[in-house]
Amino acid sequence: MLQERIPDLSKFVEPDRVRRELYTDAEIFELEMQRIHETVWIYCGHLSQIPKAGDYYTVQIGRQPMVMVRKSDGGVSVLYNRCPHRGNMICGDMKGNTGEAFRCSYHAWTFHHDGKLKNIPMMESGYQGTRFTRDNPDCNMKAAARVEVYRGFVFASLAKDGPTLKEFLREAIVAFDDMCDRAPDGEVEVVPNCFRVIQHSNWKLFMENQIDALHPSVTHQSTGRAAHEVEKEIASKTKTGEAPLSYHMLSAFATVTIDKWDSFQTINYPYGHCILTGYMGLRPQDPDTLAYDKIMIEKHGKKRFEEIVGVNIHHVLVYPGLSVQSPLQQLRAVRPLGVDRTLTEIWHFRLKGAPEAIYRRSLAYYNLVNSPATLINADDLENFWKCHQGLASDGGDWVSFARHFGRDIEKNGVVESGPDMGTSEAPMRNQMKAWVQYMKG
Ligand code: FES
Ligand SMILES: [Fe+2]
Repeated sequence: MLQERIPDLSKFVEPDRVRRELYTDAEIFELEMQRIHETVWIYCGHLSQIPKAGDYYTVQIGRQPMVMVRKSDGGVSVLYNRCPHRGNMICGDMKGNTGEAFRCSYHAWTFHHDGKLKNIPMMESGYQGTRFTRDNPDCNMKAAARVEVYRGFVFASLAKDGPTLKEFLREAIVAFDDMCDRAPDGEVEVVPNCFRVIQHSNWKLFMENQIDALHPSVTHQSTGRAAHEVEKEIASKTKTGEAPLSYHMLSAFATVTIDKWDSFQTINYPYGHCILTGYMGLRPQDPDTLAYDKIMIEKHGKKRFEEIVGVNIHHVLVYPGLSVQSPLQQLRAVRPLGVDRTLTEIWHFRLKGAPEAIYRRSLAYYNLVNSPATLINADDLENFWKCHQGLASDGGDWVSFARHFGRDIEKNGVVESGPDMGTSEAPMRNQMKAWVQYMKG
């Protein structure tokens, strides 16, 4: 057993480095699924994915196949996607509408949207005198221990006890507030469907990379430079001397240098969450932005409008499985599949009440920066695969997170990267600190 082989997992993690087995050992992975992913609050999806009663979406939480479903009373359930009869998966499709009840394809047991047994065919004749009675909870589809919704974002925890969703999210809750507050109607709507990418690496490499401010100007330099060349050429031919904003989304990877990244800051919270500050320059003065500003000011007044669009966030990481870029309504959810295989779901949202042009901006970022069609994503995927290959080798035992180690500023458990040290590896150190706490059980 793992516990005997590895008596103290915390020995694998030092404040500035971790052992490579964290990324490659299948038994450590199993324990991570049990103690982290199947314990904490995991993002399941957005209510707008399941607008009508019976609408469902399947989702993986740790090793557990789950299904998120809209109930007839408007609420939402998150259930294990398993029939209590002989274990058949209830929903074989990724999404759909189950009608009034779930119906198992094997022997037609049916279940209400909250998982409770509705009917067993020929129940009276077949089950009289057996343990299968209507009031036996073993006849129900099992539900996630806890489900909470925050501003339309649905989370589930498979553990009965633990912090509430708000207590768990702490300051990282700003990801959802910032996204929704930017909508004139105060809410967002998912854009169906998402991109799904499977990377050939451990899930933690994805989480570490999301707030690795050191890598963009290196890893994505060639992509950024090529985009910058095209941007300059187009700009030289326009009346305003400017190329459309979408070119800037890519060229920024070349023009935003490491100095600039250093001027941002990471703020690291308990449970492994992190906020990367730095305004993305989303307040250009083009007619589309001005039209949006006008709608927002009419709705909220000038003061509140300035507060909303002035939120200084680039990226929010909700450990262990969510990366949100709220100013551009982007969300990526991480679903570990195995020690060396990780699925990411890449979603984007529409600001309700905002002009179409503002949506096109978020779509452009989605396609140009986060989608599998862009070279940015390909640049990262190649690194993930190469990192995993290197970590699986005997070329070394440790992974280093030493950049700016010892220079973090800690106050009440919150760790900020030092001044002009935005590229500090503080977020990775913080994630590993949380990892140890979770793994200790
Ligand atoms: S396995 Fe579902 S009804 Fe038999
Ligand atoms: Fe990247």
